[in-house]
Amino acid sequence: MALDGRTAVVTGAARGIGYAYCRRLAAEGANVVAVDVDDPADGVRELPGGGEKLGVVCDVGEPSQVDAAVAAVLDRFGRCDILVNNAAVFPFTDLDGVTIELWRTVQAVNVESILLFSRGFAPGMRAAGWGRVVNTGSGITLTQNRDLVYMTSKGTVHALTRALANELGESGITVNAIAPGLVPTEGFLGRTRTGGPSAEEVFARVKDLQTVKRPSVPADPAGALAFLVSEDADFLTGQILHIDGGVTRTGA
Ligand SMILES: NC(=O)c1ccc[n+]([C@@H]2O[C@H](COP(=O)([O-])OP(=O)(O)OC[C@H]3O[C@@H](n4cnc5c(N)ncnc54)[C@H](O)[C@@H]3O)[C@@H](O)[C@H]2O)c1
Repeated sequence: MALDGRTAVVTGAARGIGYAYCRRLAAEGANVVAVDVDDPADGVRELPGGGEKLGVVCDVGEPSQVDAAVAAVLDRFGRCDILVNNAAVFPFTDLDGVTIELWRTVQAVNVESILLFSRGFAPGMRAAGWGRVVNTGSGITLTQNRDLVYMTSKGTVHALTRALANELGESGITVNAIAPGLVPTEGFLGRTRTGGPSAEEVFARVKDLQTVKRPSVPADPAGALAFLVSEDADFLTGQILHIDGGVTRTGA
């Protein structure tokens, strides 16, 4: 299998896109560590493939818990070859409603965790001369949505992706982001703004904007992940891949 002998760590892995990432990496032969604030054990038991599997309960917004998760992975596997930073929270708020506590929580989970996991695993990747970091960004950064805190956090994820690519490329480590379109996961289906359109209305509107006229599924970003972590993507770094059925294409 393509990823035999590789160890992959995925955050936000108990459900949704993160779980699809785990399934794909496991099916390609990797050892998979699923990290989530909700116990990922049930899903971990169902993962395919012959590699080892481990579930780690961790609030990635808490630096001490990230340090403990990194230590647990290094203790069990000695390395992380593929780091997939996917965990995120997405509370709606506008400028009048935002609090500094909410802003900091979203930054901690969506952005700072990427920094901390990357710092934890980069030394091992450098020593091996090979590594893959893939962050989950979002197409929201290119839209007219009023989604202040989440949109800013994902814009920062894109910038952090490029900054990490600048630092790590000379060590054989690529860093890219996958920016999904709208995927009907549990998290996003439950996302409604008071007085705003229902989740169903939002999904229907986005499908209209796509040129590929079907709803996205978690396997769409997972397919992009399989490419990004493969040897075929060895010369691809610092990129934001929009896997969105064409929503963000430009032109008249
Ligand atoms: N679904 C979409 O339409 C869509 C679009 C663009 C980007 N994204 C991004 O894709 C990623 C996955 O989203 P999803 O749709 O699968 O959402 P989801 O809510 O279904 O899954 C998110 C997972 O992250 C975990 N998580 C949340 N906070 C955490 C924390 N503090 N520590 C550890 N784990 C935590 C949750 O428990 C959950 O298992 C996110 O980064 C999201 O921003 C999703």
